[in-house]
Amino acid sequence: MKHLLTLKDYTKEEIEKIINKAVEIKTNPEKYADILKNKTLIMLFQKTSTRTRLSFEAGMTQLGGHAIFLDSRTSQFSLTDYKDEIKAVMRFGDILMFRAKKFADVEVAASFNQIPVIDACSEKYHPCQALGDILTMAENAGGLDKIKKVVWLGIENNVSNTLKLACAKLGIDVYLVTPKAHEISVDEELNAMAEATGHVQKTLDLAVAMTDADFVHTDTWMDMEFFSAEGGSASGGEEGKVKPEFKKEYEARIKIFQPYQLNAALVDKYGSKAKIMHCMPCHVGYEISRDAIDHTNSLIFDQAENRLHIQKAIMLYLLNQC
Ligand code: CP
Repeated sequence: MKHLLTLKDYTKEEIEKIINKAVEIKTNPEKYADILKNKTLIMLFQKTSTRTRLSFEAGMTQLGGHAIFLDSRTSQFSLTDYKDEIKAVMRFGDILMFRAKKFADVEVAASFNQIPVIDACSEKYHPCQALGDILTMAENAGGLDKIKKVVWLGIENNVSNTLKLACAKLGIDVYLVTPKAHEISVDEELNAMAEATGHVQKTLDLAVAMTDADFVHTDTWMDMEFFSAEGGSASGGEEGKVKPEFKKEYEARIKIFQPYQLNAALVDKYGSKAKIMHCMPCHVGYEISRDAIDHTNSLIFDQAENRLHIQKAIMLYLLNQC
């Protein structure tokens, strides 16, 4: 049974097939309006979400199926053995989308091979985001084979892991401008696979990375738990108050990552043709500036929408309809 977990087991051809199917569905949505009639997607969340939940739920509706949202905090997961509960959950659906705190739990669900399982963003991987982002790049570049160079700024994390691997498998050069990796996201096997392709470069030289870049991407390197609600939300701007106990770590992260903030000045100076990407939610003033989000090169909202189109292709692929 095929699952979508890490992308380590996906070939170039399989990745291309999913992206091409997403393009086809986006172009001709009416052709797919009933294709998953009577199929059920179970969406299990241990963490919050905006885009992933909306895109899977709307996507399943648009394919003629039904999606059920299950929040682990308001279901019985905390009262019983995880393995028993997840086995029971999978009896009610045809496909499981799981946003887990720990990838190990996604892996356990998949190991039962009851129904296809999708890692919908664990601490290590975010394969749906990677595929959606490549869809956005492909439509912007004029085809998958036209994407030549992608830059990732800031922290190496779950999103960069799967994006880097998918791009490298497709023969796209990826430049990581990452002074640090998020420790819990590190997968040495994935790193080795990506590096073995010869398409992954590491540098802290922004000029080298950004020269001739087609796309520049980033993601959060600040923890939102560092901020108190008082004084506003950090995700809404710079005004969130830092809790005293996190001040030291907050300042350390600013020092490490702020030089690699994705902002208009950086793009205009080093790579003016690079299209700006962010998987969202954006933490304005930290990994990205307001002027980058609103820049004429920004693809951020197209990128968010493409989560919808790629989820449809992913579900069809896993249900052997693609
Ligand atoms: N990028 C992403 O996965 O967004 P959500 O956390 O809102 O689902």
